[in-house]
Amino acid sequence: MASGERIIVLGGDGFCGWPTSLRLSREGYDVIIVDNLSRRKIDIELGCESLTPIQPLERRLRRWRELTGRTIEHHHLNIAEDYADLAALIAKIKPKAIVHFAEQRAAPYSMKSPRHKRYTVDNNINGTHNVLCAIVESGLDIHLVHLGTMGVYGYGTAGMSIPEGYLTVKVDIDGVDREIEIPYPPHPGSIYHMTKTLDALLFYYYNKNDDVRVTDLHQGVVWGTNTDDTMLHPDLINRFDWEGDYGTVLNRFLVQAAVGHPLTVYGSGGQTRAFTFAIRSAAFSWPSSTRR
Ligand SMILES: NC(=O)c1ccc[n+]([C@@H]2O[C@H](COP(=O)([O-])OP(=O)(O)OC[C@H]3O[C@@H](n4cnc5c(N)ncnc54)[C@H](O)[C@@H]3O)[C@@H](O)[C@H]2O)c1
Repeated sequence: MASGERIIVLGGDGFCGWPTSLRLSREGYDVIIVDNLSRRKIDIELGCESLTPIQPLERRLRRWRELTGRTIEHHHLNIAEDYADLAALIAKIKPKAIVHFAEQRAAPYSMKSPRHKRYTVDNNINGTHNVLCAIVESGLDIHLVHLGTMGVYGYGTAGMSIPEGYLTVKVDIDGVDREIEIPYPPHPGSIYHMTKTLDALLFYYYNKNDDVRVTDLHQGVVWGTNTDDTMLHPDLINRFDWEGDYGTVLNRFLVQAAVGHPLTVYGSGGQTRAFTFAIRSAAFSWPSSTRR
């Protein structure tokens, strides 16, 4: 993909979306963030905040422009509810790709009450479907990149390594063995993980029916806080969630160890998980005048 092309980052104010937006902007793409700031409102609901002092999005974007001369736009849209605005934006921007991070992403939060379950399903499923529907309505060849989670497979497996891509299985059709390809069977353990398995089905359908190009990554916990881009200035710092709903296991262990609290282990403690160190990016050189 050539620089100067446009990329929409849905959820670009969040933990993964913010450093991704800066990285793409630095590489020369015109980045358009769509975010309804719902994650910041959930901090207020839960009475907690990021351990790092994250700045309001408009201030972050202003600082980025001052330091690099590069503009990142922000559109305050709820992708699960504002379909007409989302479709109009996609048609106007004509992005080469859309990176989709805009979901409620905490399994514990999704299980707190019927309201939280319904919010997570409404937000995540309607949001993903609206994006797919708007891509088709635009008539454009837009590559959709989505972050799923390995949690869709549950904690057990069928006694085998989970294969990349599809699984070839033999089925008996009218007494004849046929080979077919299926996605690896999902086994979600929370409402949040269930929304990710439903996302995958929506992607499968829209790819098959409408040729929408989709990359759905089912990786493990993403950890790390800052990148070379966010470290250019304190106003660009990324969020660090540490509490019981949004703080993932490494962050919680780090904070507990720092204050001398025993590490809180869920269940038997025998779970295994993959961790993706995705946040601190590879070394690169900014002009020294832009470094702080
Ligand atoms: N953080 C991880 O370890 C991890 C691991 C696996 C998968 N993921 C996935 O990556 C994605 C991003 O995760 P994150 O950790 O950056 O989460 P996050 O909560 O920090 O960021 C999500 C952003 O999306 C926005 N958003 C949510 N719903 C929206 C809506 N309807 N309209 C517009 N904006 C909306 C929020 O305001 C927030 O800024 C999620 O889909 C998550 O499931 C994250």
